[in-house]
Amino acid sequence: MTTLSTPGASLDVLLTPADLRAALERDARAGLSATPKWLPPKYFYDDRGSRLFEEITRLPEYYPTRTEHAILSAYATDIAAAADAEVLLELGSGSSHKTRLLLNAMARQATLAAYVPVDVSVGALRDAMSSLRTDYPHLPLHGAVADFDAHLALLPAPGRRLWVLLGGTIGNYPPAERAVLLAALSAAMRPGEAFLLGIDLVKDPKRLVAAYDDAAGVTAAFNRNVISVLDRELDGDLDPDDFEHVALWDAENEWIEMRLRARRPISARLGALDLPVRLDVEEEIRTEISAKFRRERLAEELTAAGLHVEQWWTDPMADFALVLARR
Ligand code: AVJ
Repeated sequence: MTTLSTPGASLDVLLTPADLRAALERDARAGLSATPKWLPPKYFYDDRGSRLFEEITRLPEYYPTRTEHAILSAYATDIAAAADAEVLLELGSGSSHKTRLLLNAMARQATLAAYVPVDVSVGALRDAMSSLRTDYPHLPLHGAVADFDAHLALLPAPGRRLWVLLGGTIGNYPPAERAVLLAALSAAMRPGEAFLLGIDLVKDPKRLVAAYDDAAGVTAAFNRNVISVLDRELDGDLDPDDFEHVALWDAENEWIEMRLRARRPISARLGALDLPVRLDVEEEIRTEISAKFRRERLAEELTAAGLHVEQWWTDPMADFALVLARR
């Protein structure tokens, strides 16, 4: 592990560019050789994909980000009081934008001792930490470049932590993988530490589908961007425009599924993997699931992982929820 330090700030590098590269190669080979084909959603987020996601969060149809923000605005003080923590540790911190509501509330209670942002992107962490340094000059920052599927037990613990996973990110995990993540999280937490989880709730499928198939086509561009990522990173000759964006509600599993559907027969290759990529017309690649939750089910899953639900906050329409659980 590499640690880069300046006064009041440190950055642990648990995940290197070589690790990320190896994972991309493994995932692309496995997913594009499988029937049906799939790709993990984490590869959406290169610079362009991250910008497109930011744009998605401002779309009229995409309610999760603004709703979670509204819940945090309304209840940050209550959440900070209930969490009773010294350190805010954020998984997938990105721009650390919403985090400020929680940091401010914890600071007001005079319990805040440090912020630990955790992300796979060293660039995002550096940007977030430098802007936090300006706005919170006395707050110790301990960033970690880490994959939260692998490094939870190694994350900094400069005091009793409130672990947060916001935005509905947990919805990207299918049930079995979600159980593994929650168990690993619980194992990495110390007794008495708290976990704040943002989840999107089951609702009218028409609204759900619209949120993932917006009129302006931003989500379609975001979905197709994963093809551009493969082409660039793995020397591919796929054409993003050969794929149609598909978003559907799987009522049985209660998740949104995004797919890329071939508009014509495709015969391409990924040069870096020496891998032919062939699709029949209308053949699909599954690129994301985004699970939606019900209160009881989620409480059971958390309990099974050894985490006890203490409180629950939601918006007036019950579109989105923040759940506080304790190890
Ligand atoms: C960032 C995973 C929460 O599932 O809603 C947005 C990603 N995909 N539009 C979500 C996403 C399509 C988003 N998460």
